[in-house]
Amino acid sequence: MKILVVGGGGREHALAWKLRNDSSRPDVFCAPGNAGTTAIAANLDIGAEDLDGLAAWAGGNRPDLIVVGPEAPLCAGLADRLEEDGLRVFGPSKAAAQIEGSKVFSKQVMEAAGVPTGRARVVTDTREALDYLRKVGPPVVVKAEGLAAGKGVYICASMADAEQAIREIMVKKVFGAAGSRALIEEFLRGEEASILALIDGRTVVMLASSQDHKRVFDNDQGPNTGGMGAYSPAPVVTDDMWPAIREQVFERTLAELRRRGIVYKGVLYAGLMIAGKVPNVLEFNCRFGDPETQAILPRIASDLLPALLSCVDGTLREDMVRWRKDACVSVVMASGGYPGAYAKGLPIEGLDAAGRMEGVLVFHAGTKLDARGQAVTSGGRVLNVTATGSNLDAAIRRAYLAIAPIRFDQAQYRTDIGAKARRHYAVPDTA
Ligand code: AMP
Ligand code: GLY
Repeated sequence: MKILVVGGGGREHALAWKLRNDSSRPDVFCAPGNAGTTAIAANLDIGAEDLDGLAAWAGGNRPDLIVVGPEAPLCAGLADRLEEDGLRVFGPSKAAAQIEGSKVFSKQVMEAAGVPTGRARVVTDTREALDYLRKVGPPVVVKAEGLAAGKGVYICASMADAEQAIREIMVKKVFGAAGSRALIEEFLRGEEASILALIDGRTVVMLASSQDHKRVFDNDQGPNTGGMGAYSPAPVVTDDMWPAIREQVFERTLAELRRRGIVYKGVLYAGLMIAGKVPNVLEFNCRFGDPETQAILPRIASDLLPALLSCVDGTLREDMVRWRKDACVSVVMASGGYPGAYAKGLPIEGLDAAGRMEGVLVFHAGTKLDARGQAVTSGGRVLNVTATGSNLDAAIRRAYLAIAPIRFDQAQYRTDIGAKARRHYAVPDTA
């Protein structure tokens, strides 16, 4: 069995690790992978957005499954192209990937389907935008249409902030073509959680809940990042909420997509804002979350490969994914300066000592091997130091113990990953 994982971040290292450890022991290839994936897979010198290169390699090497990590190649039609060549792809078609690729499409689907979500207006020019802003008043959230690498969302506390956001998106066009339309959305309060579901076109198998930490500094301070850490499960999602999440979020969305002639296969990620147990959808993503995946996959007791293959074949069943009771925490070690400018090529020490610790997995993100075979930094988010434990506190302790021996110049990480979960446990601090 041969599997190709497309992408080169921590999410893809975690996917390659889980698939490589499948009881069928498949050969895993990563395009392009990172320093960490070289230990479990063969890295290919093909970028995740090089559709021609990926199609040529897959056409010649005929992997049994291709798992696509990032959104950009899916939104560009990678799955359609590979399927036309008779290959099996875990990941949605270009039409289905619009659920992430177009904020307007996504909101229209949610509204037509009756999915709980913030009220919003699509605006196509600045006059219309400013008129609407005056009508609703702050706080509002302004979102650029189209993929903006997580940077197209402005939380606006004042009218001046909102006007500035509209100017950046629609006049300065800082997101390029994504600036021709924008969404002005109601500001929702609550606590965020991510729910990912495997989908085979019809059957929905929800994965364990998780929570990302988007701000760069402790206590949710500083600018937004791609995610500074995650933990699973997220206790803000209580057991009694699952039936509503299944029906109101996933089943309604899939039914509306079907009505539009779109079949969804792959993983659908719902970013929720939970208040009073209502699962309001902030966004849908057409792929696994990063870094949520790094905190979810180590909790899966069963093989993952049969479930992914069943998504492609339309034979997914609930009992295909079994869970460990353990909690999991993944802490991102990032380059100094991230999410702004940062240095690259800095040697990373202590990886072996960390990786040997019980219950610890060090997933690589922005790393590569230099000419001497030494792991060096090559991106903003460098490592995902991940630990499981019998409860969340135990997992948190282990993850931070594992970080201690790892060194690279100017490394930064949050010291409070998972801490938010504690307020949901009815355990007094002194107990
Ligand atoms: P998105 O890319 O749509 O998930 O937005 C990025 C982040 O902005 C989310 O994770 C939330 O923290 C925040 N956000 C997005 N939409 C809203 C909203 N309607 N109300 C409050 N916060 C929001
Ligand atoms: N963790 C946020 C995302 O994957 O979009």
